[in-house]
Amino acid sequence: METYILTIILAETLILFIITLVLFYSLHKISQLKKHEEGLIEEKNKQKDFVPMLVHELRAPLSVIHGASDLLLKEVRNLTAEQIETLLSQIRASSSSMLKMVGDILDVSKMDIGKFEVNITYSNINNVLQEECGYFQSLAKIKGISLDLQVDNNISNSSFDPERIKQVLNNLLSNALKFTPEGGRILVLSKRIGQEIHIEVVDSGNGVPNSEKNLLFQKFSQIKGNNHSKERGTGLGLYISKGIIEAHGGHIWVEDNKPNGAKFVFTLPLL
Ligand SMILES: Nc1ncnc2c1ncn2[C@@H]1O[C@H](COP(=O)(O)OP(=O)(O)OP(=O)(O)O)[C@@H](O)[C@H]1O
Ligand SMILES: [Mg+2]
Repeated sequence: METYILTIILAETLILFIITLVLFYSLHKISQLKKHEEGLIEEKNKQKDFVPMLVHELRAPLSVIHGASDLLLKEVRNLTAEQIETLLSQIRASSSSMLKMVGDILDVSKMDIGKFEVNITYSNINNVLQEECGYFQSLAKIKGISLDLQVDNNISNSSFDPERIKQVLNNLLSNALKFTPEGGRILVLSKRIGQEIHIEVVDSGNGVPNSEKNLLFQKFSQIKGNNHSKERGTGLGLYISKGIIEAHGGHIWVEDNKPNGAKFVFTLPLL
């Protein structure tokens, strides 16, 4: 009789244990599904927000182009050569920013459908770094920021797409300039590590909080309160940079710079 009761108690305990396990597993699955659903909703909202944001971003340079060309057409006889030059420079700057935005949207759509391709040639990464840093040096000087380049001369020619790598550097350097205050420092380094090239863009600016480090490489991600309204971008630069580096078989990530600032690193295989 006792054995019978003990067996029943054991069986009940076992059933209870199984029920608890099933419940626990179901709850875990439900919470996972919920998280996935929340992620999808967030992504959908970002996409929805993106259209008005994009229209707004395109509208600003378009208004400048319209206003400046209108003034030129109506007042060209009364304007000084200097005034005409200023208006033409405004038209050029605004059309360049529109071209960048349109180019970014095209890149993103190609990446999203897996149709993004790189045009590999045999080049030296140090030459590309020299060219890009040379271009940004004058911009850094205007902002009172020092920009230095340290290259590893052991890096020989390798296979990569120079135009696309310039695009990545362009974004990393313009970000570093945007988020580093006056008097700050930007350092660009190339290193050969085994069969890889490591490129670092280090700044002494605001830095990236740990919670944001992975999010930044997603579409339209921007750190709240980190963006100066004057220099707002669309939040596509790092997403595109990641796509370009991964198309080369490399990786890109962000680390903290000590004592402050961010260090963006990308790798390229030495092929
Ligand atoms: N060096 C940096 N220091 C601090 N925050 C940064 C740095 N680089 C990027 N970020 C943060 O990451 C966000 C995303 O950068 P990303 O380059 O993708 O977009 P963006 O610069 O805002 O716009 P876009 O590059 O499309 O013109 C930035 O808006 C900023 O919040
Ligand atoms: Mg950017």
